[in-house]
Amino acid sequence: MKSFQIKSFEEYQEKYTLSVSNPDQFWGEIAENFKWQKKWDKVLEWNFSEPKIEWFKGAKLNITENLLDVHLEKNANKKAIIWEPNIPSDEAVVYTYKDLYHKVCEFSNALKSIGIKKGDRVCIYLPMIPELAIAVLACARVGAIHSVIFAGFSASALADRVNDAEATLVITADGMSRGAKLIPLKSVVDEALENCFSIKNTIVFPCIKSEISMKENRDLWWNDVLSGQSNECPAELMDSEDMLFILYTSGSTGKPKGVVHTCGGYMVYTAYSFQNVYQYQPEDVYWCTADIGWITGHSYILYGPLLSGATSIMFEGIPTYPDAGRFWQIVEKYKVNQFLTAPTAIRSLMGYGEKYVNNYNLASLKVIGTVGEPINAEAWHWYHEHVGKGNCPVVDNWWQTETGGIMISGLGNLSPLKPTFAGYPLPGIQPVLLDQEGKEIQEHDVEGYLCVKAPWPSMLRTTYGDHERCRLTYFSHYDGYYFTGDGAKRDEDGMYRIIGRIDDVINVSGHRFGTAEIENAINENDLIIESAVVGYPHPVKGQSIYAFVVCEHAYENADDARKSILNTVTKEIGKIALPEKIQFVSGLPKTRSGKIMRRILRKIAEGDTTNLGDTSTLLDPLVVDEIVKNAI
Ligand code: WTA
Repeated sequence: MKSFQIKSFEEYQEKYTLSVSNPDQFWGEIAENFKWQKKWDKVLEWNFSEPKIEWFKGAKLNITENLLDVHLEKNANKKAIIWEPNIPSDEAVVYTYKDLYHKVCEFSNALKSIGIKKGDRVCIYLPMIPELAIAVLACARVGAIHSVIFAGFSASALADRVNDAEATLVITADGMSRGAKLIPLKSVVDEALENCFSIKNTIVFPCIKSEISMKENRDLWWNDVLSGQSNECPAELMDSEDMLFILYTSGSTGKPKGVVHTCGGYMVYTAYSFQNVYQYQPEDVYWCTADIGWITGHSYILYGPLLSGATSIMFEGIPTYPDAGRFWQIVEKYKVNQFLTAPTAIRSLMGYGEKYVNNYNLASLKVIGTVGEPINAEAWHWYHEHVGKGNCPVVDNWWQTETGGIMISGLGNLSPLKPTFAGYPLPGIQPVLLDQEGKEIQEHDVEGYLCVKAPWPSMLRTTYGDHERCRLTYFSHYDGYYFTGDGAKRDEDGMYRIIGRIDDVINVSGHRFGTAEIENAINENDLIIESAVVGYPHPVKGQSIYAFVVCEHAYENADDARKSILNTVTKEIGKIALPEKIQFVSGLPKTRSGKIMRRILRKIAEGDTTNLGDTSTLLDPLVVDEIVKNAI
């Protein structure tokens, strides 16, 4: 354990004050806990107008030395990763820090043997298997920039991401096992790569041992590239501000953005936030149920926990297979002490009743976390009462792909608990609420746009290949502030509650989509003239997708048209982005200048048609009556 773990709420308050008054001293001292090959010249240099953010400038390091090599001396035989397979009767895999070190070194050498070097972009399209962790860490070891792409994305979405990053390698598997299903992956990669010209190789792990085709001179088997490689590999020397990874995420514009994180600051902040939010102790077993395809898996399955020398569980499966007790069975099996999941999983399991939770012994739990979307009061109380048995603090972690680490959250059992509130900012984080004019609201018991007014070590540095887009999306709405896209409430105690997105981003089961991204996908269908997509509240998924589509022949054969649209979205993005409701309309409500009035559509989707506001300025007000009449 590093020495920066906060031990009381009073200490948190002191640290917070110092972090704001003297961030250089505060973060400089925390950074001393890590292994640097060369120390920094300056802790922080920044301006939000370009933006330019540099942490620990001039320092040299490799993050994998900090999460592998440094543990070998005292903790070589401690479990680093426990991998629990999809099918409970299959054998779990346990890697100690020493095992993981050797596995990562071996694969690093394999990467080097096919010409991967510092700065190259490597896409990783793998299921939640140990090889995913190994591949990510091996990229970091050789200085290649990893871009993990969630294995639920379609060929077209994969191709977009490969091309945007101009990646030269894709690491994948033949297929994956998920719940009762086997899902092909290599064939998706093959289809994607028909349109990707930067790729030189793929490395394929035989996960489900299915028949696949291998393209000569391009596709390599995992075991073949590993064969004969040494299990020692010196770590590449990286600058603190060298890119560590790209992670694509959706925003309010059509094309997903490659959010870029760099080495030094990301390392310091993920370890710092992990240890403080989860109050991890050396013998604890920690489990985050996220997928490494998303930021939570990057920061809080791999980097944060391993940098802290923790034992981190990686789970291949889903919460409801073979039944809705699977999570709790795993908690009992490994005596999990800290558990982190998403509200959508909690709500879904809640629907199956308490008997599944009560079947297992959850007494080992000390801290339970929630992340990814706002948690409603009912789910919060169920989680607290039935999973935490009333004894475990619920830490609600608010943050984003762009923030790299948890920004607002309780710290284990140190912080006051308030249902549905994320709570107070972590040390070093300065959230503010802005009003419509962009002025800071000073009072308490208010709502506003959530922004951050000073840099923190793990914040995004750019969007890959398009710095201007980063500036426009995050730093241009309000001068001098990082704009989160979320609305929030601050109560009389100064605690924050996140209300949800105020931009055109929909959060479905914790997965982010831009409305324009889904509209673009739907519009690829030849039947479609035009579409508008909005989110609406959903009891399990948090939000779901409602699509209003203008389509010439739909009224004649609506079922076929609906199926065809669903196929198109599956092909363009993946099943995770399917609209739950599709309504065929003869036109969309537009202003005279042609702008779609989403506010009206959102209200209709929410089922609130009593107060649609002024529709008289619309090009064709009658279209609203028709949409309301046929609303689903
Ligand atoms: C939402 C996931 C309320 C929010 C880590 C944010 C949350 C977006 C919470 C980022 C939370 C995440 N309470 N809302 N605890 N955590 N969000 O990039 O709208 O996948 O902007 O990062 O999810 O989603 P992302």
